[in-house]
Amino acid sequence: MTIVLGIESSCDETGVGIVRLDDDGTKTLLADQVASSVELHARFGGVVPEVASRAHLEAMVPAVRRAFAESGLRMSDVDAIAVTCGPGLAGALLVGVAAAKAYALALDVPLYGANHLAGHVAADTLEHGRLPSPCLALLVSGGHSQLLKVDDLATSITELGSTIDDAAGEAYDKVARLLDLPYPGGPPIDKAAQQGDPAAIAFPRGLTGPRDARYDFSFSGLKTAVARWVEAEERAARPIPVNDVAAGFQEAVADVLTLKALRAAEDHGIDTLVISGGVAANSRIKSLAGERCAKAGLRLRFPRPRLCTDNGAMIAALGAHLVEAGVKPSSLELPSNPALPV
Ligand code: KG4
Ligand code: ZN
Repeated sequence: MTIVLGIESSCDETGVGIVRLDDDGTKTLLADQVASSVELHARFGGVVPEVASRAHLEAMVPAVRRAFAESGLRMSDVDAIAVTCGPGLAGALLVGVAAAKAYALALDVPLYGANHLAGHVAADTLEHGRLPSPCLALLVSGGHSQLLKVDDLATSITELGSTIDDAAGEAYDKVARLLDLPYPGGPPIDKAAQQGDPAAIAFPRGLTGPRDARYDFSFSGLKTAVARWVEAEERAARPIPVNDVAAGFQEAVADVLTLKALRAAEDHGIDTLVISGGVAANSRIKSLAGERCAKAGLRLRFPRPRLCTDNGAMIAALGAHLVEAGVKPSSLELPSNPALPV
């Protein structure tokens, strides 16, 4: 049995998780504490890196304490520590990495640098068990939009495609601002879209032409198309049909994400799709992916929304995979890398 403490601080969530790895490979979530600084960023309409770093510094030790209280364990029970070392905001990553090093040094346990993107995929193993090899992961959040072929979570992940401009969540946040909806924009757009007609306004599907990259995404043109549409209506002094705009935008995002994911699965002979990241909470992405996967005979997995957004449990889960795979721990000189590739 191995107890893994996971620490996440790559963006605006301070996450601390504890996972127990049993000798038969079972991973059990024992604690999942998240302190978010999202409200501090709301009035800026996006994450302010300096504010996020300071918030991590204040929230980290209390979150660790709460995680131990939740699990009923003592710090001396910890066998290994995993920490997000990238990708993410430079100053924010440093807080988590420095904390993890201090705990690893004090407890004299191995330290593992964890890739945040692999962590998002690992989150699903806490809920649905081992992933088949290979599987395809669609990672969609405020910071990333990627299609990953996962042969082994700990040692072999290949990026098949990614966004060439904005991340899917970023597009939600920007469109929400255009529609005077609050930040973060995903939940209010999702809600408005459910009252709207997705076919009322046809918004463009970026990078879906026959000559375009097969697995890459582009959402910046879609955001601009929404902005132009809204501006034209305002110029004509017509009221903005917020629900229809939200529904049309959401349909375009869900259509492209699921289309490219299914295409990649088919091209690579993969039979399981995992969708994770904050945007995976989206109702239309869930329903469209469900319909299309059922039609194509693909198995579809989503972690529950709490495990989709940034958290420490996913990093503890990935740490457990690294331990299980016999990956060499990092030294206490572990660097952080804001642009760490998968
Ligand atoms: O994974 P996450 O918590 O943080 C990052 O790593 O970015 O994702 C946050 C993003 C935000 O852009 C938010 O607007 C989006 O996830 N989001 C949603 C929904 N809930 C959150 N997007 C679409 N539909 C939702 N229901
Ligand atoms: Zn994330």
